[in-house]
Amino acid sequence: MISRRKFVQSILAFALLPKQLLHAKGFLSSNTFRLPKLEYGKRVDKNVCFDLNLQTGMSQILPNVLTRTLGINQDFLGVTLRADKGDRVHIKVNNHLNITSTLHWHGAKLPAKADGGPHQPINPGEHWLSEFEIIQPASTLWYHSHQMHETGSQVYHGLSGLFIIDDDQSNALNLPSEYGVDDFPVIIQDKDFNQDGSLKYLDDFREKLMGKKGETILVNGIVNPVLEVLKPLIRLRILNGSNARIYHLNFDDKRIFHIIASDGGLLEKPIMAHSIKLAPAERCEILVDVSDGKMPILQHNMHMEKSANRMTGMMMMQQAQGKQQAFDIFQINAQKVQPANVKLPQTLIEHKALSIDSISRKRKFKLQMRMGPQLMFGAMSGSTDLLKINGKSMDINRIDEVVKVGATELWEIENTSMMPHPFHIHNVQFKIVSRRGKLEGHELGFKDVVLVNPHETVQVLIEFPKFSDAKTPYMYHCHILEHEDRGMMGQFVVV
Ligand code: C2O
Ligand code: CU
Ligand code: CU
Repeated sequence: MISRRKFVQSILAFALLPKQLLHAKGFLSSNTFRLPKLEYGKRVDKNVCFDLNLQTGMSQILPNVLTRTLGINQDFLGVTLRADKGDRVHIKVNNHLNITSTLHWHGAKLPAKADGGPHQPINPGEHWLSEFEIIQPASTLWYHSHQMHETGSQVYHGLSGLFIIDDDQSNALNLPSEYGVDDFPVIIQDKDFNQDGSLKYLDDFREKLMGKKGETILVNGIVNPVLEVLKPLIRLRILNGSNARIYHLNFDDKRIFHIIASDGGLLEKPIMAHSIKLAPAERCEILVDVSDGKMPILQHNMHMEKSANRMTGMMMMQQAQGKQQAFDIFQINAQKVQPANVKLPQTLIEHKALSIDSISRKRKFKLQMRMGPQLMFGAMSGSTDLLKINGKSMDINRIDEVVKVGATELWEIENTSMMPHPFHIHNVQFKIVSRRGKLEGHELGFKDVVLVNPHETVQVLIEFPKFSDAKTPYMYHCHILEHEDRGMMGQFVVV
């Protein structure tokens, strides 16, 4: 382990470890990268059955103490589901918890009844069956709890996982795609812990309003992972699975990588980048050439983050150190890789051009956060009246928008507040057509979440899939989960 990493880790240990753990053995050393278990389901032709269990678990995250967590078919976080375009999935979700929950297929195009939003709650001891055909291209989707007012807490404690879709077109590209060999899931989350090792969630009024940010970064549920690789070219499927933190990712040696996919699947061609910004719920897939046999560390650059939001204790400590602006996320150990000449495809897949002429309707959404003296008061009293879209707080009995089936629409999202909000729409993959700031590489692809910066207006072009259901709505909302839980959400039906 290089010394600078040790340095960062020792700050880390000092800043966030409960006192009795300060000298605990093991923490300063690194952990073996953890892969969520991969599940292909039970297949009969094109029908694939998954059996998912929402369960509690005890997980070793910090040394010498166990943390009570939630998981799906495992102690902490969900197993990775993998299926093909054209498959019909039948997912049975069994709720073994003593709380009501849901499971939403984030990024999927699917009938509203199968969506797993707040309208498909699963009571303790009961189950829910979600069935839909996968009609979208190869992509990295994810799934997570979407329980009304409880999403933040349930996701934070572990109810989320990845859902990988494959298709013939992407298989033909010969991209790294062997799970755990050259294709790795990277679920990045930030957590805080209590003295007893339990997860600490929302005990601070600022967190309730600004969103929960933790000072310990986890990858696939563990801290300080080192991923040993043997292949010269690896693919990382990165999910920002955090409740509220936006990551600015880069490697410590500033190496170039190639962005190949966004939320909705492959880009038209790989995009070279040094860094990538990823808001909550956003995914990107990158290819990293590690044929040099080195040990690069993926980092979160706090220098980029601090302008947007309050600094945490951790960050202030690092600021005080003067030069330390980076927070290690995980390290790749490529020392056993044989030198090789790595070749990337020039092009990936062609995107169907969505034309502005086909827009049948334009809608506007204003993201609003009430600031001022009532703010602290409201946040402390748990008011849900602080966060709104178009002047309204989420009401599960109110339909906000009615969309015509198969329509192409332009949605304009305006952020009238002082903090960024990642806006997400269910059931669609859209293209960003205009924004004030510059587009990140992955923002050229299909998206289901778009980060709308303070006082920015973003326009997205959406082609709605051909599912209709006048009674069951889909959601659109801010994906800072504390904002979603506190009213920054609305509902639309497709008819
Ligand atoms: Cu990722 Cu409405 O959710
Ligand atoms: Cu969603
Ligand atoms: Cu928000």
